[in-house]
Amino acid sequence: MKKFVALVWFSFILASVAVRSTKASEYFDLSYSLNNDTIFYPGQKFNFELYKDRKGYTEGGYWYATYSFCMAEHGGTHVDAPIHFNENGWTLDEIPDSHMIDVRAAIIDVQEDVFSSPSPDAFTLQVQHILKHESQHGKIPSKSVVLVHTGWSRFWPDKQTYLGWTNSTNSSKPILNFPGCSGEAAKWLANERNIVGFGIDTPSVDIGNNGGNLPVHVFFGERQIYNIENVANLHLVLNAVNKKGKLCDGFSSNLRLFVLPIKITGATGGPARILAYC
Ligand SMILES: *[C@@H]1O[C@H](CO)[C@@H](O)[C@H](O)[C@H]1NC(C)=O
Ligand SMILES: *[C@@H]1O[C@H](CO)[C@@H](O)[C@H](O)[C@H]1NC(C)=O
Ligand SMILES: *[C@@H]1O[C@H](CO)[C@@H](O)[C@H](O)[C@H]1NC(C)=O
Repeated sequence: MKKFVALVWFSFILASVAVRSTKASEYFDLSYSLNNDTIFYPGQKFNFELYKDRKGYTEGGYWYATYSFCMAEHGGTHVDAPIHFNENGWTLDEIPDSHMIDVRAAIIDVQEDVFSSPSPDAFTLQVQHILKHESQHGKIPSKSVVLVHTGWSRFWPDKQTYLGWTNSTNSSKPILNFPGCSGEAAKWLANERNIVGFGIDTPSVDIGNNGGNLPVHVFFGERQIYNIENVANLHLVLNAVNKKGKLCDGFSSNLRLFVLPIKITGATGGPARILAYC
């Protein structure tokens, strides 16, 4: 009997070890904290504001703190819901959980291409960059979220540089300058790889200086594909080594993501906690 118990106990430990080893060794937080430094896409009503309504000891002798906050939807690390550019698209609270929870992901690292190009802020992701990624790391699985590492996050939270904000002397309209995705690459990822979401470490999936054309937003909106903008810390994932000793380099079958946006009824987008593991 003792032997049997010992065997059961041993099997239980073995099973626990087996289960544990399939879990994440480490989670990477791909979101920026919300505070006074949070960068918003220009033209919205509110930046991030925090009001410390109550903070201190009460007459009852216990500590009590409660704050209010206020912000526009599209600031910091946030999700664009399809309704942002498609009047019939899903609102933020309507995006299916299966598109956000424990989804497969790939990181396409184009940092070298961006910063070796003559004007990094005019760089757009092309189909050739995706094919190069796949030749090194494997095919992007169906229903993945594709994340693009341009390296632009190095400028966060310097608003002027990150947005590449210059004011044209000829118009009152500000001009933004930062890299993004091309319409062709967006179409290819939707049609050939059936992605459910697309993220980037810049203020927008379309380039900053876009002359008012936002092909990536419009196309992904049509296809019910959500965007994630101002993605943080992708370099940490790319440089990490997982428990099995494999470089966590954006390899398509390794990487998984939790995309957790705030649940506001009818929102066109909103701040999100993004966690990755490999
Ligand atoms: C954020 O900015 C507000 C308004 O300028 C200021 O009152 C507040 O002290 C700032 N908070 C922090 C943590 O710096
Ligand atoms: C452009 O104008 C905006 C809004 O007035 C301002 O915040 C920003 O600093 C200006 N940028 C430059 C480069 O002058
Ligand atoms: C402003 O207008 C002039 C004359 O039309 C043009 O040469 C110049 O490129 C314009 N500058 C900008 C920043 O648009």
